[in-house]
Amino acid sequence: MKIITVIGARPNFVKLAPLIPAVKKYSSIKMKTVHTGQHYDYNMSKIFFESASGGFDLPKPDFYLKVGSDSHARQTGRVMMAFEKIVLAEKPDLIIVIGDVNSTLAAGLVAAKLHIPLAHIEAGVRSFDRTMPEEINRVVTDSLSDILFAPSNHAVANLLKEGIPRRKIFMVGNIMMDTLFSNLNRINKSTTVQQLKLIPRKYAVLTLHRPSNVDNKIIFMRIVKALNQIKKRINIIWPVHPRTHQQISRFKMERFFSSALSANPSSSGAITLIKPLSYTDCLGLFKQAAFVLTDSGGVQTETTALGVPCLTIRPNTEWIETISHGTNRLVGTNPQRIVKEAGRILARSARAGRIKLPKYWDGCTAQRIVKIIHHWSRR
Ligand code: UD1
Repeated sequence: MKIITVIGARPNFVKLAPLIPAVKKYSSIKMKTVHTGQHYDYNMSKIFFESASGGFDLPKPDFYLKVGSDSHARQTGRVMMAFEKIVLAEKPDLIIVIGDVNSTLAAGLVAAKLHIPLAHIEAGVRSFDRTMPEEINRVVTDSLSDILFAPSNHAVANLLKEGIPRRKIFMVGNIMMDTLFSNLNRINKSTTVQQLKLIPRKYAVLTLHRPSNVDNKIIFMRIVKALNQIKKRINIIWPVHPRTHQQISRFKMERFFSSALSANPSSSGAITLIKPLSYTDCLGLFKQAAFVLTDSGGVQTETTALGVPCLTIRPNTEWIETISHGTNRLVGTNPQRIVKEAGRILARSARAGRIKLPKYWDGCTAQRIVKIIHHWSRR
């Protein structure tokens, strides 16, 4: 059985990592990977393929499409044109796409048009907010897929409500947990906290990259207003996504932030910008933080698994389990609300620690996926 798995953006690499060893256990399955090049900076891509620098030692992709950044239509179209050639030449029995990025949608469309069976890892995840590009990518990819690997019972229910037949849906759990649990030792050994001269629990971490937050100056400024209040009580460390970096320059917001930490590690008063981190260094930083502020989907699930309080700077979440089972709280973009919730955590009146991880968020998701694919291939 010949599989092509498509990756393109940072979160895809995190979710591919556990799939590689799981596939290797089946001699009858051969998997090739296609990297679309949606993300291409060293810190956004190559670092995940290395081991020494905190990545996963992923095998070099079999194909690299070099699509780079562009508008949604052009980026999606470029992936489709380049990927179609590969599919026609390789004739895979199954194409696997992961998550909700533009590369996921583009490869899914190619598979469906060429009548190649399509499997989607992380199916059924919904924010019900169609202004998010990812929501469009999720809904369309799921509607095209033949095998839908849902990360939770909630995601299964979403798919059933959309009329996807039950026989196509498999609840396998959250593959990001496989990555997290299998890297816990390395995460624990990360020295980023010491290198940045931070004291555990005496700093907060911020990640911000949603277009709805950083592409609009008024909204971005509201968030900065909240950060300026929070920093008076606790230092904020911010690994900056390239999209956000560009917007900070465009809006001339550099004056609000520092790029070097103060000599006194316990002092508050700074929002410190650092480069995007490797997986283990980023998770190491989260693990020892007082709390995490984010607008990322994946970070909400990771902080829940690590038991670190998380404030999500969005009006909605596609990971409702992180609120019902975990440490996440939606705070939107209202500065007063963000500051108030951060204050509650600092006063220790907010819930902290893991409550109960959802079913199958147990580190065995990749094994379940490959077992199902193996059965499917013998149907
Ligand atoms: C993409 C995904 C988003 C995911 C995020 C994770 C879509 C629609 N969005 O958002 O779901 O949460 O990745 O990081 O697929 N850039 C660089 N270097 C890079 C990559 C991007 O400088 O290696 C800059 C480019 O100017 C680009 C911008 O960042 O235009 C945005 O990149 P893009 O891949 O379009 O979307 P993300 O915001 O990264």
